[in-house]
Amino acid sequence: MTLDWTTADTSSPNVILDVKNLRVHYATPTGDVIAVNGITFNIYEGETLALVGESGCGKTTTAMGVLRLVQPPGRIVEGEVLLKGTDVVTLDEENLREMRWQQISLIPQGAMNSLNPIMRVKDQLGDVIVTHEGRQNKNSLKERILDLLNMVGLPGRVYSMYPHELSGGMKQRVCIAMAIALHPTLVIADEFTSALDVVVQRVVAQTMMEVKEQMGVSMILIGHDMGLVAQMVDRVAVMYAGNIMEIAPCYAIFGDPLHPYTQLLIESIPSIKERKPLKVTEGLTHDLRTPPPGCIFQFRCPYVMDVCLEELPPQREVKPRHEIACHLYDDHGNLMFDIVKQDST
Ligand SMILES: Nc1ncnc2c1ncn2[C@@H]1O[C@H](COP(=O)(O)OP(=O)(O)OP(=O)(O)O)[C@@H](O)[C@H]1O
Ligand code: SF4
Ligand SMILES: [Mg+2]
Repeated sequence: MTLDWTTADTSSPNVILDVKNLRVHYATPTGDVIAVNGITFNIYEGETLALVGESGCGKTTTAMGVLRLVQPPGRIVEGEVLLKGTDVVTLDEENLREMRWQQISLIPQGAMNSLNPIMRVKDQLGDVIVTHEGRQNKNSLKERILDLLNMVGLPGRVYSMYPHELSGGMKQRVCIAMAIALHPTLVIADEFTSALDVVVQRVVAQTMMEVKEQMGVSMILIGHDMGLVAQMVDRVAVMYAGNIMEIAPCYAIFGDPLHPYTQLLIESIPSIKERKPLKVTEGLTHDLRTPPPGCIFQFRCPYVMDVCLEELPPQREVKPRHEIACHLYDDHGNLMFDIVKQDST
């Protein structure tokens, strides 16, 4: 039976995606790599959430988990991904196909390099529409593709062009147009500006925001660039080694970050106004096959305490919509201990 997503039930009317305890492992000959370690977060209607964290922390794997696109040797070990109340993890193949693109679309990491080099833009965009909606009247399909190009700020001549005739920024806009072609509820964009120079990055980011305003679509933006994120999103989720360390509104993450890892990430943002040595987060992430007992940030945390070595700090809300996983704070976000910075050298 095909699901009617427009009437799909949801426990909270404003939450469109509710990810609960999602765990994704990659099997290796020497044990499972715990890429996503039971994470929990949600997305509200029309909201933009940033998923940030250093390379290898599990951002792409989270996106693949949400879309149930994790490829072997990876697998979803447990958890729920409730899209408008329906669990994507247990969805049958027919509804899963419908869900992808029509409900959640993905701009994958390196998307612009995966455009088909021998297909014109019109055919690649047309394919997305026809595959999901069936054959269309030629003129109305053309009109729809031109509208999409216009929406992402591309001139009509791009319609007949091949990817190699486009600049990086233009190719990335074509990828955005493909992602919104079927009017999805949620767009996940993985490192969507990473291969572009800084000026083009800003322009493409601006395009994304305009598209969001026009369509009212929710977004998950995955990236490293905290500065770019600060200007674009409503909330930020900070990931480290497969875990969410802090998730809070953008102003709180940048104005009042609580978790030591978030604080270090923010201190490492270069500033053109203030000349200061950049903060480097010392140390390396533990081997993801063998997480330590207790807090997974213990080897790099400047405030590590005895309790951190033994007890895993639970992710909990300590201020309105501000969640952290750290033993330093009480249930109201107040410091519980006199913090003493450990010497990291
Ligand atoms: N096929 C695989 N086999 C084993 N481990 C894998 C595989 N794919 C990913 N991993 C591991 O899973 C972890 C999470 O990878 P993921 O690609 O999700 O990170 P990421 O945060 O998106 O990184 P980046 O910022 O570099 O894109 C990494 O440690 C990675 O090495
Ligand atoms: S729980 Fe302990 S080790 Fe982990 S981030 Fe907080 S203070 Fe640091
Ligand atoms: Mg990635």
